Amino acid sequence: MAIKSVGIIGSGIMGAGIAEVTAKAGYEVVLRSRQQASADAMVAKLEKSLAKQVEKGRLEEAERDAVLARVSATDELSALKDSDLVIESVVEDLAIKKGLFAELDGIVKDGAILATNTSTLSVVDLAVETQRPDRVCGVHFFNPAPAMALVEVVRPLTASDETIAEALAFATECGKSPVEVKDRAGFIVNALLFPYLNNAVRMLENGTASAEDIDSAMKGGCGFPMGPLALLDLVGLDTSLSILEALYAEFGDPNYVPMPVLRRMVTAGQLGRKSGQGFFSY
Ligand SMILES: NC(=O)c1ccc[n+]([C@@H]2O[C@H](COP(=O)([O-])OP(=O)(O)OC[C@H]3O[C@@H](n4cnc5c(N)ncnc54)[C@H](O)[C@@H]3O)[C@@H](O)[C@H]2O)c1
Repeated sequence: MAIKSVGIIGSGIMGAGIAEVTAKAGYEVVLRSRQQASADAMVAKLEKSLAKQVEKGRLEEAERDAVLARVSATDELSALKDSDLVIESVVEDLAIKKGLFAELDGIVKDGAILATNTSTLSVVDLAVETQRPDRVCGVHFFNPAPAMALVEVVRPLTASDETIAEALAFATECGKSPVEVKDRAGFIVNALLFPYLNNAVRMLENGTASAEDIDSAMKGGCGFPMGPLALLDLVGLDTSLSILEALYAEFGDPNYVPMPVLRRMVTAGQLGRKSGQGFFSY
């Protein structure tokens, strides 16, 4: 089935980024958030981002108008019924995602792909909540979605070859360089990245160096574009905590045990950039 229309669920950091990527790639996009105001705020964010691109001469005004004309915002899941592909990008919580997949399965037309943008959770757990486990896969974008080239297409045991091929083609059509990966916690990138990020928190916690110096060292010494603590702030500390918990639950590797300070910061509402305070202030 050719993908023409894409439904996106979740109005957080990732939902908004994926909306921009898919609308610019020429798909009809329906953005769904639990509140109409949040869905409208995603469109406003998209308008602002496109306006900046026009200002910088990277986008024609006519193209901006065409992109915006392809996007609609709703608080109703039923508005996704005709989508060819739905990308779920809500909070990293298995119970919430499972409930959503079960509900979506009864709403979205037969044959459509139901995909998750989860960073670490088991995709097959979502697939078996539906009557179409062969049409469920992971389509994992990176943050910020408009800027990052990678999409991990995650293949649960239940997915058909056609589903994976269509998801890979969709990611390519979005201008990304997809890779295919088995359904294992953290897939490729987060399984390798999070022990490093967690150990940076360990280093901060045991007083080896300041947050500024840890980040500065990894930028200057390894050529990384951003330090590990700033990266955790960008991802969101609540999302990072969930990622580490899922990795530890699956592999039992002590490197994945979230550092106590990370848990305390999440409890305190210090979630990184999105709350204005994390390892750094914003
Ligand atoms: N932040 C990142 O760097 C990043 C990168 C790739 C993938 N992801 C994944 O994308 C997904 C979303 O992450 P995010 O960073 O956009 O999170 P976020 O915290 O910015 O947004 C979470 C969204 O989930 C919604 N939500 C919360 N509880 C809900 C519920 N009970 N039912 C429905 N919606 C609910 C919120 O309203 C919000 O729109 C997660 O699965 C995360 O692992 C995140």
